[in-house]
Amino acid sequence: MNPLTVRPRRLRQSAAVRRLMAETRLDPAQLVLPMFVKEGIDEPRPIASMPGVGHHSLDSLRAAAVEAAEAGLGGLMLFGIPRERDAVGSGATDPDGILNVATRVVAAEVGDALVVQTDLCLDEFTDHGHCGVLADDGSVDNDATLERYSDMALAQAEAGSALLGLSGMMDGQVAAVREALDAAGRSDVLLLGYAAKYASSFFGPFREAVESALEGDRRTYQLDPANRREGRREAVLDIEQGADVVMVKPAMSYLDVLADVAATSPVPVWAYQVSGEYAMVEAAAANGWIDRERTVLETITGIRRAGADAVLTYWAVEVAGWLRAR
Ligand code: PBG
Repeated sequence: MNPLTVRPRRLRQSAAVRRLMAETRLDPAQLVLPMFVKEGIDEPRPIASMPGVGHHSLDSLRAAAVEAAEAGLGGLMLFGIPRERDAVGSGATDPDGILNVATRVVAAEVGDALVVQTDLCLDEFTDHGHCGVLADDGSVDNDATLERYSDMALAQAEAGSALLGLSGMMDGQVAAVREALDAAGRSDVLLLGYAAKYASSFFGPFREAVESALEGDRRTYQLDPANRREGRREAVLDIEQGADVVMVKPAMSYLDVLADVAATSPVPVWAYQVSGEYAMVEAAAANGWIDRERTVLETITGIRRAGADAVLTYWAVEVAGWLRAR
């Protein structure tokens, strides 16, 4: 065969042909915007390490949620920054805690237009900054933490969250929370298992964003970045426990794990493009070293191509705007 009868470049010859042949597309409905709401502020405040992202007041959160709904996003993921913290993270289960208050506000405003979601983890609410409660020896007590998560789940469901993001990486957290919700008659609430969440340095800017009190690290509960097989195993366990959706996080350095999970998961698979991924692109773009819009779209397309059904990204609203303008 004359090799020149085979010309793959035919498929790339014009914008119109490329558009028709694209294997992966982005749609605002597949994007979820993470948002931070801070207790006791009246005006939104910038987060230095995440240019373009800020702490919301309740009012600015409401307005931004409406903007996200109008942009056609699939959902919002809410994180709260309380004024006070304690050893057990009391603010997480208090109906008047900032995250629960914010959830009520946002659910009432846009709960029919998109999926209002909440982070279910104690790290923003504990004075030691860990994702769970501590045992006497200072280690994170898995089983005692599950009781706190169950109570937190009920508080979040009560506040109007439609999907709980279980990001704490405790063993058995999906089963424990599912059982608590079902026993309370809330079998309608969706559970997202952050199945394969790695102990990543890419969470750095987020820790600033939530004013994390953490000293040390999360390596006794989050996954070792060296491990691919273990990421698959965690996803399988979350699915067995009843997760409605599973997640791989961070995204860009874990696309192999994402592809593995996506290849076999019977439930939707999401990826979280985390704060450090955002900050890196913003910093390089601010220096003029990369084309910002093209880079952002390439990163999210790559995450979708690797198998993510939906992507959590701080660029969600802006990307939706670009997609509309095309
Ligand atoms: C834990 C949580 C973290 C992120 C989302 N949920 C931080 C952590 O595990 O230290 C990170 C998100 C990001 O970096 O954008 N509640």
